[in-house]
Amino acid sequence: MLIFLDTANLEEIRHAARLGVLRGVTTNPSLAAKEGIGGLGSYRVAVQEIARVVDGPISAEVLSTHVQGMVEEGREIATWAPNVVVKIPSTLQGLEAMSTLAREGIRINQTLCFSLNQALLGALAGASFVSPFVGRLDDEGHDGMQLVADMVQVFQKYRITTKVVAASIRHPLHCVAAAKAGADIVTVPYKVLLQMMHHPLTDVGVARFLQDWEKTVKA
Ligand code: G3P
Repeated sequence: MLIFLDTANLEEIRHAARLGVLRGVTTNPSLAAKEGIGGLGSYRVAVQEIARVVDGPISAEVLSTHVQGMVEEGREIATWAPNVVVKIPSTLQGLEAMSTLAREGIRINQTLCFSLNQALLGALAGASFVSPFVGRLDDEGHDGMQLVADMVQVFQKYRITTKVVAASIRHPLHCVAAAKAGADIVTVPYKVLLQMMHHPLTDVGVARFLQDWEKTVKA
């Protein structure tokens, strides 16, 4: 399972890249707005900077809700950098835009996916990635990770090559469950990435080793 960072914050992305585990980045309008990015122009600059730091796929999302608007924005976003992927929502209009853009060779990340049917249709329309929103399903009392597991199983059964990106990740246990469910990718907030590596027993162990070493040196 590959790890993507779900953020538009460059410092977070640079740090994750230094850790050697980062294989891609996902952004969305909310994450961009959180970083003070407003307007397509500054979104482009930010995404291009991210694309310079990270080799893997960088997802940037369209803002239009109608087919022609999504297609035009998608074509524009796809020119920003060679590794940019266009994020399109799982709506009927989005499906049509996905199929048009995919036929032009533009890579799509189907976002805001909440059902296996949406995922199947997006995959058939040519999406390269599909992003089930685990946390938001959990928030509604559904089992978000079961959707990830179902997608993995059905895509394998029918040899669908669309990658499953477990998204809307809220805590480290989601990452463990995504790995067990067979997700191709998990896209994590920076805080969760740090939590994945943290274990209190490791901290206690390091402190104890140092204490024991100091005792010997002083003796
Ligand atoms: O990857 C999707 C993500 O950005 C949504 O996360 O926490 O807003 O549901 P969240």
